Amino acid sequence: MRELIEMRKDLEQCDQQILKLLTKRLSCIGEMTEYKKAYGLPILEPEQEAVRQETLLQAIGDHGYKEELLGIFRQIEENSKCVLSKNLFHYNIALIGFMGAGKSTVSAYLKDMLAMNEVDVDTRIVQEQKMPIKEIFARYGEEYFRNCESNAIISLKDLRQTIISCGGGAVIREENVVNLKKNSRIVLLTASPETILERVKDSDERPILNGNMNVEYIKELMEKRASIYRQSADIMIETDGKDITEICEELIQALIRLEA
Ligand code: S3P
Repeated sequence: MRELIEMRKDLEQCDQQILKLLTKRLSCIGEMTEYKKAYGLPILEPEQEAVRQETLLQAIGDHGYKEELLGIFRQIEENSKCVLSKNLFHYNIALIGFMGAGKSTVSAYLKDMLAMNEVDVDTRIVQEQKMPIKEIFARYGEEYFRNCESNAIISLKDLRQTIISCGGGAVIREENVVNLKKNSRIVLLTASPETILERVKDSDERPILNGNMNVEYIKELMEKRASIYRQSADIMIETDGKDITEICEELIQALIRLEA
């Protein structure tokens, strides 16, 4: 049997080799990101992730440590995504737009594809106030809710690499826009009133729409808010008729152009 000291040496050598390869892999991610940016190529390629997974599964076969190996590669994939998003954005991405414009869906997809952190302003308020939004409105009124919203936005000031999903009325107050702009680019998501109605019609969680769940009201409120939304936004993305990958790719490309 080999001596322990020899085995420890082997382990150390493995670590050194792994470190070398991982460093190479991560800088390869950085290089690919720069290449894609330079040639305007798609950043999100969900199909490539599936291809890598398939190749990996084949290479691992029925190895006795299959689960452990897959776990390590899951982490490598995740950390590579972190490197990708660090290379893309040195700021947070604040999503704004009317209720049902797709902020939560876009936030979840970007989090998944770019391993960024995710904060939902309304969820913060609910956690802090220990009651649902509709109850905050019913008990204390809209002005109180808007104060909670402003405070929640102030509390985000130290966040980095984060997608901030804002409530539909968050940019009504100029101070919130100023505070968001300190460390974020603001992305406006839009959709037609018909699409919005389709997305929100079964929810009773939006007090602003209570008793007004119809296209006419949505259209009217959207028009009232339209100029505030547009003035607050660094970029604007229309979501109608597009799938989630298209929307997020368009968003990323528009943010890249903003920095160019
Ligand atoms: C509001 C939108 C809601 C929530 C609150 C008020 C608004 O968020 O903040 O009900 O004034 O548009 P969502 O846009 O996430 O539904």
